[in-house]
Amino acid sequence: MEEQTFSAGPVSEPNAPEIPAEAPPENVLVATGLKKTFRLSSKQRKIEKTPLKEKIAVNGLSFSARKGEIYGLLGPNGAGKTTTLRMLATLIRPDEGDALINGFSIVHQPDKVRSQIGFLTSELKPDEFFTPSYTFDFFSELQNIPTQVRDERKAMLFSRFGIDKFAETKISDLSTGMKQKTSIAISLVHDPEFVIFDEPTNGLDVLTAKSVTDFLVELKNRGKTILLSTHIFSLVEKICDRAGIIIDGKMAAEDTVAALTKEKNLEEVFFDIYAAAKGGKEI
Ligand SMILES: Nc1ncnc2c1ncn2[C@@H]1O[C@H](COP(=O)(O)OP(=O)(O)OP(=O)(O)O)[C@@H](O)[C@H]1O
Ligand SMILES: [Mg+2]
Repeated sequence: MEEQTFSAGPVSEPNAPEIPAEAPPENVLVATGLKKTFRLSSKQRKIEKTPLKEKIAVNGLSFSARKGEIYGLLGPNGAGKTTTLRMLATLIRPDEGDALINGFSIVHQPDKVRSQIGFLTSELKPDEFFTPSYTFDFFSELQNIPTQVRDERKAMLFSRFGIDKFAETKISDLSTGMKQKTSIAISLVHDPEFVIFDEPTNGLDVLTAKSVTDFLVELKNRGKTILLSTHIFSLVEKICDRAGIIIDGKMAAEDTVAALTKEKNLEEVFFDIYAAAKGGKEI
């Protein structure tokens, strides 16, 4: 009788390259040694109560964000979050360092970077004189979006945020929440892969804030990568995969939210890190 043999699994060829169990994570953002110094006017020196003529806002910041994750930047007022996001969005140039977004350099290929990103910040507000619909069309044209795609995208985003009812209302007549939702919709006219939101829920009531954060999770579920700054620890614990804590322009701690909050909640972790960074001084 023929002997039956059983195999435990596929036999690997001796010279076959080893296949990693999991593909390495794809970094959509890699920031390396970002530095930005601002000259301070005499008025600013008075406000900041400093004799120094320069302020190092961001001081050698390196971090990365992986495809399909929500990355949260936390830090006290003046830590350098907005400056970092403005550099990544190519609104200002770093003095030193660089960042690659989808492989494009913010220093050497700012136009390419702009096609990859959506940027939301309270500093850049849509013109109050125009309507959401007009403004959406205007920014779509700047991004060369075909009319049909623009109309489908506008219908989807406006209905998702309930802007459709106010599409032809002057932005100056909209509520704070509706203005913010309009700004979000406009930042997404080109369906960017990488979304940079500076304090996206700032000044919003809990209901509007929830609709914005739910939308961020929807974007993530569609494979988009999101980098946001916030002062709301619970938001980071709830929706962020990873977080970086910036203090005095430097990355004081960076890890997955799960690892950061293994023993304490994020707020307690933040206080510890802040005290350590300030050499144990009182907060
Ligand atoms: N254009 C500028 N000219 C001079 N100083 C600036 C300028 N922009 C930012 N700064 C300074 O750089 C530092 C970092 O500011 P930044 O706005 O990046 O902080 P932030 O972390 O976003 O703070 P917040 O939580 O208050 O928004 C602050 O001291 C700020 O005053
Ligand atoms: Mg800021």
